[in-house]
Amino acid sequence: NENPTLMEGFQNVPNTDWNLPQNIAWAQKIKTDWKTPENIIGTTIPVIGDLDQHERYTVKVSNWSGTPPWDYEMSLKEDYQKAIENRTEWQSFTVEQRVHLLKKAAVEIEKNRADLIGVAVAELGKTVKEVDVEVSEAIDFANFYAESSLEIAKEFTSDDEGINLVLSPWNFPIAIPIGGALASLAAGKKVILKPSTNASACAYLTCKCLWEAGIPKDALYFLPCEESILDDFLSTGNIFDAVILTGGTETAHFLLERNPQLNLYAETGGKNSTIVTSLADKEQACINIVQSAFGNAGQKCSATSLLILTEDVFNDQEFKTLLKDAALSKVFGNPWDFSTEVGPLAVPISEKIKHVIQNTSDNQWLVKPRLNGNHMLTPGIIWDVTTDDYPYQNELFGPILSVMKANDLKHAVEIANNVDYGLTAGIESLDDNEIEYWNNHIEAGNKYVNRSTTGAIVQRQPFGGIKASCFGFGMKAGGINYVLQFTNIKSKTTDW
Ligand code: ALA
Repeated sequence: NENPTLMEGFQNVPNTDWNLPQNIAWAQKIKTDWKTPENIIGTTIPVIGDLDQHERYTVKVSNWSGTPPWDYEMSLKEDYQKAIENRTEWQSFTVEQRVHLLKKAAVEIEKNRADLIGVAVAELGKTVKEVDVEVSEAIDFANFYAESSLEIAKEFTSDDEGINLVLSPWNFPIAIPIGGALASLAAGKKVILKPSTNASACAYLTCKCLWEAGIPKDALYFLPCEESILDDFLSTGNIFDAVILTGGTETAHFLLERNPQLNLYAETGGKNSTIVTSLADKEQACINIVQSAFGNAGQKCSATSLLILTEDVFNDQEFKTLLKDAALSKVFGNPWDFSTEVGPLAVPISEKIKHVIQNTSDNQWLVKPRLNGNHMLTPGIIWDVTTDDYPYQNELFGPILSVMKANDLKHAVEIANNVDYGLTAGIESLDDNEIEYWNNHIEAGNKYVNRSTTGAIVQRQPFGGIKASCFGFGMKAGGINYVLQFTNIKSKTTDW
């Protein structure tokens, strides 16, 4: 990887080694323990912070497995008001004290790896292996942002005040909320986390690791709520130093149209391409493509959803068969089964996906998806999608891959670039000239050569997009400037 300057003092943590039988036994134990989640996390996912006692209401949310056996407590406007006004000792800590606690948080997250895996399978139907990688990412964020703040302190002094709001999604229910919170804390900010309600149990257990490590509850507030509660705080002025959103492009547009002053830092959608040329290793390409398209049931902003083939590859029957076989070989099923590679949709099937299924004729499917209930959707591949078709511009956020034909590499890049988004992109080719052409012309924040377009690793592939995939400065998560963008740098000059 040619991108980052490696930061001294930081190392990525390893994922669980699934070749070891004891680790498979460990995964089995998680499944057994999480048969009764309420024994592990209680019956209510509470609001947490240095807040007044008062009555709050709770909601139930149905998920892939029915209705989880816990209630979600919802915060009220007065909770937000209090969290915004309260003072926190976090802002009088030295950088070294904060770094110490962030690194302790990394240790706590590692200690709780099993339960974090358990809660994400139970709440969202992620597969064990997918969550394991996500837990590693959360640990990496804690260590990396701690080191980042030390680097920043070598060069600058900062004003440690202000408050960030993190609005996090359900598809990476551990790494994304905690990544935003950790970066804010590393920059000396107080932080309010409002997770997606569907993913609050995951965010709660992850926050618990930070509180256990000693990060004060008045520095990290956990305030799940209905969206309307936020209206008063987001619709005018700038109460928050940063609003860190990971979510839909429409949400980002809505927030900025309502309040153009909002300090919004958003990572939003993607309509990501992988281009395959005749000079690709075709078998490896198909492995990478199905991983990119169907991992986490396609519910990743980074997922490949457009597969653009140069004409010779498009007409190559062997490639077509390899791709079909690769898709069909993905083990689909219950996320608790260790062999499952593609699990359920975390939220009920969207109208967009339904629209595509209803409007695609049988002979257009290279692999026809099957829907059972609202969550169980097997992978689908549509053959010969054109730029006029609905799936070309629309992010589906599910396990549906559209295959398109291009005259040549140049045309393939044009098709890829004519979408509004610019998050990830991949090329499968063993030819240096093709790779160089693609690298110089493709419009994407994260580019991957002969590798899956998902699964960015902290520091190695700082993550974030361009065009409609990004709002704000565009500093990448897991990259060197991510904490810096939230830090109030002070400059002092004395003339003698
Ligand atoms: N950071 C996540 C990935 O790279 C979204 O897949």
